[in-house]
Amino acid sequence: MHNTPKILVTCALPYANGPLHLGHMLEHIQADIWVRYQKMRGKTVYFICADDAHGTAIMLKAQKLGISPEIMIQQIHKEHNQDLKKFLINYDNYYSTHSIENLELSTLIYLRLKKRGLIQSKLISQLYDTEKKIFLPDRFIKGKCPKCQALNQYGDNCEICGAIYNSTELIHPRSTISNTIPIIQQTEHFFFNLTYFTNMLYQWIKSNNLQTEIINKMEEWFSTGLKSWDISRDEPYFGFKLPDSNKKYFYVWMDAPIGYMGTFKNLCKKIHDISFEEFWAQNSKNKIYHFIGKDIIYFHILFWPAILEGSQFRKPTNIFVHGHVTINGRKISKSHGTLIKAKTYLSHLNPETLRYYYATKLSSNIDDIDLNFNELIHKINGDIVNKIVNLAARNAKFINQYCNGALSNYLLEPIIYNTFTTAANYIGEAFQKRNLNRATKKIIQLADLANRYIDEQCPWKKQYTNKKQTQAIYSMGIQLFRVIMIYMKPITPVLANNTEIFLNTILTWESIHKPLTEQHYIQPFKTLFTRITTQEINKILSATENN
Ligand code: MSP
Ligand code: ZN
Repeated sequence: MHNTPKILVTCALPYANGPLHLGHMLEHIQADIWVRYQKMRGKTVYFICADDAHGTAIMLKAQKLGISPEIMIQQIHKEHNQDLKKFLINYDNYYSTHSIENLELSTLIYLRLKKRGLIQSKLISQLYDTEKKIFLPDRFIKGKCPKCQALNQYGDNCEICGAIYNSTELIHPRSTISNTIPIIQQTEHFFFNLTYFTNMLYQWIKSNNLQTEIINKMEEWFSTGLKSWDISRDEPYFGFKLPDSNKKYFYVWMDAPIGYMGTFKNLCKKIHDISFEEFWAQNSKNKIYHFIGKDIIYFHILFWPAILEGSQFRKPTNIFVHGHVTINGRKISKSHGTLIKAKTYLSHLNPETLRYYYATKLSSNIDDIDLNFNELIHKINGDIVNKIVNLAARNAKFINQYCNGALSNYLLEPIIYNTFTTAANYIGEAFQKRNLNRATKKIIQLADLANRYIDEQCPWKKQYTNKKQTQAIYSMGIQLFRVIMIYMKPITPVLANNTEIFLNTILTWESIHKPLTEQHYIQPFKTLFTRITTQEINKILSATENN
């Protein structure tokens, strides 16, 4: 066992300038289910994440609130951490990029890159807000598209015609912070020589089992050529200073992925049987997987591996990319009224409802995922309540009432039981490959099968004529329910824990093949899951509108 590689799993680090919403939750839920499955199969897994606490947006948000960025990121960290815990996301460490470990690692990496001649300084021209005395990031500039003349376009690209340009090319640019007209000013910036890594990256991408869509995207990027990457920012900035300058800062996207390492390093201080090197050294045999959304592929598939290679660290084993959540067909945004906070959902619904719903929609491709509330109600009440939990309820009744909770000490239908256990291969592979939609579909097929079996046996008609036979039929129902709940455990861990109490047993993958036939007693059945109502959904939607 000690030869099997250990696994480190990360989710992308959420920005510390706002609450987590249901779009973020897709990623944490997807990764958490995958991690729980790996653990069930005996793997040693460390699961980490952190807040991404640096950058202009965070600095300006704190200014607007009239507090220091340090205080703001602390408050938000607390909120994020609570939301994640309540959604049952089982992080070993939920940390911050604004940490001593991250500062040390960012500094070390920068100096190693510099020593190898991979950092070059260049004079560039940027838009400068003379009132706020700040160089403007693209997001804080609006103007007329130089190509199609569309109004109100951001500093980097046009949402109307898709043109990509420099902010200095915008016609009639305006600072959205002060609403003044910015001037063009020269400034010295530091660039990471990404071009140098073109071949290495190409090889790495080709040999690493990435999703097909990602490989296609890469081909596009390679065909236009990789350019140097600006990794510095001018003051005022909230972040880490470059080690060789006291006026320039690390660009937030430079120290953010290093935050994965910093968070792990911090975990190593808390858990003594792991070391930083065994995961991050170039010759590490352990695995590192990053779960991310499709909007940040470029950073993770080009910049990040190049930075790691350039500073003599190992590269990730794989990057798992998912699509974006839309709500009833619309993009998540405050202005659309679709920014449903994780917290709002939690105050009205059981977190496992969203975990299960997302599982039924998630696959290994990067298609967007629509959260449709009618479908959510339908799936929770139809699948979990009517099919899975009801299977337990209807079979427990007789066992509790007439058998003192004792299950039959033999399996009435070994062939049916066998159908349930052989599904383990299919379901296991679906979990492994992140095809959670396939896993849940199969689980529900099994639940249908079990319910149909009980329907057909009609044991209630035979009651008392042959108690042993009736007990055996209902016990079959319980045995099948148990196997189903083993498969559900990574998705709905609390439902699984309550099932363990009810069944007086621990749901493990190995026990799939061991039915509870040795003088086994179950507990009186208590409600395991409650239905969702339209009222609850309406409360979530109206709380969101009133944000
Ligand atoms: N801070 C960066 C990530 C740095 S990782 C070194 C960031 N933060 S974010 O808060 O904007 O997004 C965090 C993650 O949530 C990203 O993987 C992003 O794709 C994901 N999502 C944000 N909105 C989403 C949806 N609407 N749907 C699915 N995932 C979404 O990017
Ligand atoms: Zn345009």
